[in-house]
Amino acid sequence: MSTDRFAAVILAAGKGTRMESDRPKVLHGLAGRPMINHLLATVGALGPERVLVVVAPGMDAVAQAVAPARTVVQKEQLGTGHAVMAAREGLAGFEGTVLVLYADTPLLSGGTITRVLEASRAGGGAAITVLGFRPGEPNEYARLIVSGGELERIVEFKDAGDADLRIELCNSGVMAIDGSVLDGLLRGVGAGNAKGEYYLTDLVALARGRGLRCVAVEGPADELLGINSRAELAAAEAVVQRGLRARAMAGGVTMIDPDSVWLSYDTTLGRDVTVEPNVYFGPGTSVGDGATIRAFSHFEGASIAADAIVGPFARLRPGARVGTGAKIGNFVEIKQTDVQAGAKVNHLTYLGDTVVGAKANVGAGTITCNYDGYTKAQTHIGAGAFIGSNATLIAPLRIGDGAYIAAGSTVTDDVPDDALALARERQVTKPGRAAKLRARLQAAKAAKT
Ligand code: UD1
Ligand code: MG
Repeated sequence: MSTDRFAAVILAAGKGTRMESDRPKVLHGLAGRPMINHLLATVGALGPERVLVVVAPGMDAVAQAVAPARTVVQKEQLGTGHAVMAAREGLAGFEGTVLVLYADTPLLSGGTITRVLEASRAGGGAAITVLGFRPGEPNEYARLIVSGGELERIVEFKDAGDADLRIELCNSGVMAIDGSVLDGLLRGVGAGNAKGEYYLTDLVALARGRGLRCVAVEGPADELLGINSRAELAAAEAVVQRGLRARAMAGGVTMIDPDSVWLSYDTTLGRDVTVEPNVYFGPGTSVGDGATIRAFSHFEGASIAADAIVGPFARLRPGARVGTGAKIGNFVEIKQTDVQAGAKVNHLTYLGDTVVGAKANVGAGTITCNYDGYTKAQTHIGAGAFIGSNATLIAPLRIGDGAYIAAGSTVTDDVPDDALALARERQVTKPGRAAKLRARLQAAKAAKT
């Protein structure tokens, strides 16, 4: 990790037109968090002296997402060079390296940033160091013109001729600039180009014109995808997911079909966890050692302890906690509920705002009625209790340890420890009445035809 001083300027003010979205581009998510937060986390870990995020007027949601990082407002979106000009005030008094990053290029790793910073200091230092890459499809990336080992200029796609477009080395947008020359160079940037914008990339030719040294370093293509459209967002998501799955498997997780498992940036999976195909881990989910996650399950904000078995087709919503060795079966939905060690909730059940004590058994079709349209209420099921199938538990409600609830009961009153509660109509059985009924109905039908 580099210890030298650098300030990061993250450009996020662009209109993101190609996303066709009402949401700022940089708030579109990857692995469950906004793309700009991926980049901020990576940069933050390198210990920058300052971080400035350039936003457009009205981008309050972006400012909130990046807080406590400082934002500066670029009043009009006149290009990436203009955006860095907007950050100048926030850089006042700073003399180290200014690292410019584009918020729409969020997969960049800390190791690659460090290489750029190191390259900017090598060989007596460079005024500008640009990170290049060779994408499979160069698309609309700008091209880096290198000659004699030095970077001569950057040609934007819209301004490029056929010969330029044959160059495979593209501009990732990552640029380390010597802070002592930045101001002077920015003043020279004009907007006389195909887009009529102030391009940051013009700094290179300007620096060379002043006899300053510029260099290019090459980085891995899968870290440098720029996200400008929904298709590029999906391509970046695929890269992030591949990395998260690889990390989980390297940590001892078995994934039967990794490509069908979707992970969040913060998902933690313990050792010897098995994940069956088609599972969605939304943000805030952790799974303890030895647990089994069966197919087609969906999680958000859930914690699953060691050796638990969850699914298939389970849905754990925020605040679901599944204890050690507990079992959650098919078509079970759980929210703000603590299912303690060894308890079983195996079929067709909704539990909300509930505690299920250790080793309790919740029968098929049990529903906690936790909401009356105005407020939520709690249900407490004691340790070792047995809830018969198709019970309706009307909260607030306490069912004692070891209590038994008869199948089909609608339970409105608390049940003490070890009591049996039956809350349903008594059965009436009428011998022979079925045969009589059948005869009457048949006769009525025959009379009609
Ligand atoms: C840019 C680069 C291009 C490079 C590519 C890599 C320029 C002129 N072009 O093109 O060389 O190959 O990225 O992905 O720099 N932004 C602002 N204010 C503005 C305009 C843009 O803050 O006025 C921000 C955007 O939010 C975005 C970033 O700058 O995060 C890049 O802008 P974008 O419009 O995506 O540029 P590209 O066309 O991708
Ligand atoms: Mg872009």
